[in-house]
Amino acid sequence: MKNKEFFYLQYDKLKWENQEKTKINSFVNNYIIQNVISRKKSDIIRIFDIGFGIGFFLKMLEKNLSKSFKNIILEGCEPSYKNYKNFKSRPFNLNKVKLRTFNKTFLQTNTDTTFDFVTAIYVFPHFAPDELNATAEKINSMLNNEGKFILVVANEKYLEEKLKSKRDLFIEKNTLEFDGKKYKEILHYSEIPQIGTVIDYNREEKFYLDLFKKHGFDLDIRKDLNDNGFICTIYVFSKK
Ligand SMILES: C[S@@+](CC[C@H](N)C(=O)[O-])C[C@H]1O[C@@H](n2cnc3c(N)ncnc32)[C@H](O)[C@@H]1O
Repeated sequence: MKNKEFFYLQYDKLKWENQEKTKINSFVNNYIIQNVISRKKSDIIRIFDIGFGIGFFLKMLEKNLSKSFKNIILEGCEPSYKNYKNFKSRPFNLNKVKLRTFNKTFLQTNTDTTFDFVTAIYVFPHFAPDELNATAEKINSMLNNEGKFILVVANEKYLEEKLKSKRDLFIEKNTLEFDGKKYKEILHYSEIPQIGTVIDYNREEKFYLDLFKKHGFDLDIRKDLNDNGFICTIYVFSKK
């Protein structure tokens, strides 16, 4: 078991800035922008990105949304000072976008804005088990009535197979208890090319479905995407 701070402090030792070279996650980000976010019919769009890293997704939003929306409000949080500083030190086109960022964990972040979309791209595997309930509740409270939550995690089965074939990636197996039920949770290493090795939690898919159902969400879309052999699952939940 790791403490909560570990999950963002580990980024001090990683080269997440190499995402600019490797473009890791751009396939998934594109899917989300083209198939979910850009489909919203409105002049205004408000998005909150949880754990934005070096702001790779925020930049893609800035570049791609100005065709579809007149008013773009982007907010996000990133607790790793190294990643946050990297984002803040590089140019961001503020001509068409209102941007607000927080160098804080998600649960420490406070904003009055209500959003059309909250996104969490490979961030839930960094939340400690005792933060998950409060995190889901907070996401619900930050969305407007038509709001949607977009969750991206590694595909559970793909990761399970990978951990069987590469046993040195396994750290520990836990049982997660939620709402009277028990779920499997595995703490493990993930090797990310040119970036480094991260520690993540892989949780049973059913856990996420039950967690968000309990917190007032319906599942709209569930999509597996194969990005160069790495399989992730994208979930789009809407408020009931
Ligand atoms: C795998 S990276 C993904 C970054 C970004 N979402 C992307 O797709 O490029 C996970 C990020 O989650 C951040 N993180 C870790 N714990 C967090 C927390 N409690 N609240 C918000 N972000 C967190 C890390 O600092 C890291 O930047």
